[in-house]
Amino acid sequence: MVWHKTISLKALEKADGASVKVGDEIVFLSKVNGKLYALNGVCSHAKCILGHLEPSELRVRCVCHDAKFDMNTGKMVAPPFVAPNAPMDKLGLKTYQVKEENGFIEVDL
Ligand code: FES
Repeated sequence: MVWHKTISLKALEKADGASVKVGDEIVFLSKVNGKLYALNGVCSHAKCILGHLEPSELRVRCVCHDAKFDMNTGKMVAPPFVAPNAPMDKLGLKTYQVKEENGFIEVDL
């Protein structure tokens, strides 16, 4: 695993949540109540780029079909509205370790 420098903390705080390219991956970053989160930024349903942060629920919502993912675990917690019977237990997203270093967000891939 290697730590990758991404966007500045200021940029993340301004954006609320942001999908960024890190190496060959897209990672959705957010900071809620002082804690950083990082999970794969490509929706497991139909590959849309995440997403809209719902900080009070600690979730990110895919803007394509409204699937929701837990920022802590990456689990899908609400299915896409076009596939209400989707196997949510198989559609979770990978989470990553994340930290701030000298004003920038770093992700361990
Ligand atoms: S692509 Fe994300 S819910 Fe369909």
